[in-house]
Amino acid sequence: MKIGIIGSGNIGGNLGKHWAKAGHSVMFSSRHPEELKNLVEESGKNAEALSVKDTFEANADVYLLAVPFKAIDKISELYAGEYANKVIIDATNPYPGRDGEMALKVRSANHNASEYTAMKFATAKTAKAFNTIHAEHLQDRAFRNVDKLAIPYAAQDKESKAVVEQLIKDIGFDSLYIGNLSDSRIMDPDQVIYGKSLLRKELKELVDTTKTY
Ligand SMILES: NC(=O)c1ccc[n+]([C@@H]2O[C@H](COP(=O)([O-])OP(=O)(O)OC[C@H]3O[C@@H](n4cnc5c(N)ncnc54)[C@H](OP(=O)(O)O)[C@@H]3O)[C@@H](O)[C@H]2O)c1
Repeated sequence: MKIGIIGSGNIGGNLGKHWAKAGHSVMFSSRHPEELKNLVEESGKNAEALSVKDTFEANADVYLLAVPFKAIDKISELYAGEYANKVIIDATNPYPGRDGEMALKVRSANHNASEYTAMKFATAKTAKAFNTIHAEHLQDRAFRNVDKLAIPYAAQDKESKAVVEQLIKDIGFDSLYIGNLSDSRIMDPDQVIYGKSLLRKELKELVDTTKTY
């Protein structure tokens, strides 16, 4: 797949590196792509660094959103014509301390964080994944054959569900489908499975004992 990484920091940088290693074509983006030289070198021949604009214009199959939550409003608005009906994987989390008032509003709204992203990227197919795992575990626990950590994910439709499941498997993690975006509250900050690094069986037990839907 051709993957556009929007925000090439702890989460986007590590995921992009893994996907490039797995054979996907990865475009890392930044507001100053010239600073991503080391990351591109470490990632090998399948990776390149571009501006955010060029990455959206490059017509990727899927975009990973790994920026501070507060950047969602502007990015979704600026590049609406480019991402159109593509798959967006949302790895972001609203943190009022970092993201300000809008994160506070989302935290106390009657929709969850992934639904906020889906509302903003209204024409795209949004999935939520990789927002619950610590960046260090994303880095260190990929490509395992045994004791794979499970990545929980939620998806808006069949296509985004299939894409995310594939991309989780390709880098040696297990996956656990939580449900539709409306079911993804359990993945949000301070909720039951947030920040938990567990094997699939343990994660599923925790989800099943918590689910009220
Ligand atoms: N760190 C974790 O353990 C962890 C775990 C799960 C989820 N998350 C979530 O994932 C997201 C990214 O976290 P992170 O730790 O990877 O952050 P990070 O290391 O700070 O990386 C975020 C990147 O986003 C880019 N960025 C910042 N503001 C932007 C804007 N207005 N427009 C476009 N790009 C912008 C920055 O790149 P440039 O300055 O180069 O443009 C930066 O490298 C956050 O929402 C976070 O809550 C983090």
